[in-house]
Amino acid sequence: MAEKIKVLLSEEEVNKRVLELGQAISKDYEGEEVLLIGILKGGVFITCELAKRISVPVSLDFMSVSSYQGTQSSGVVKIIKDLDQAIEGKNVVVVEDIIDTGRTLSYLLKYLGNRNPKSMRLCTLLDKPDRRVVDDVKVDYTGFVIPDEFVVGFGLDYDQRYRNLPYIGVVEFED
Ligand code: IMP
Ligand code: MG
Repeated sequence: MAEKIKVLLSEEEVNKRVLELGQAISKDYEGEEVLLIGILKGGVFITCELAKRISVPVSLDFMSVSSYQGTQSSGVVKIIKDLDQAIEGKNVVVVEDIIDTGRTLSYLLKYLGNRNPKSMRLCTLLDKPDRRVVDDVKVDYTGFVIPDEFVVGFGLDYDQRYRNLPYIGVVEFED
């Protein structure tokens, strides 16, 4: 089945919003340092673009997680790659491409919170609040709130493809 990608958010719109998010983070952490924790693989693109727009000292780390097959409702995620460094006493900003049901972040925020960071906030490029099934994921920095559609680009994939699109598109199937 062939698919077509319809632009939802243009490259210009996304870049403008990432700049605004970077400026907001720079203001909130004035005089401090931040550690951005990007969630692989989708979160890599937004993490790096965001880092370039932050004016306070930034360091980077990455985690890779996956949902356990078949136990979706448990909300347990498997840690494939943990952080390289300790986060105790640090200002952490977890950076995701999209928050959908919120299960991944609900688990991850608790997991990281146990390591006693000085502060922990959450930034996501996209949020689909209509899909949320948890109530304990508070987003501090949101790029765009989008409707319940399957999107790709800027890190987001369909079957591992389209992550490299510089814009956000909706996948449309045609037969
Ligand atoms: P959740 O919030 O735990 O449901 O999981 C969010 C993860 O699901 C994201 O990090 C993406 O990998 C994936 N995901 C959710 N919605 C989309 C979408 O529209 N396009 C591509 N991936 C998505
Ligand atoms: Mg992801």
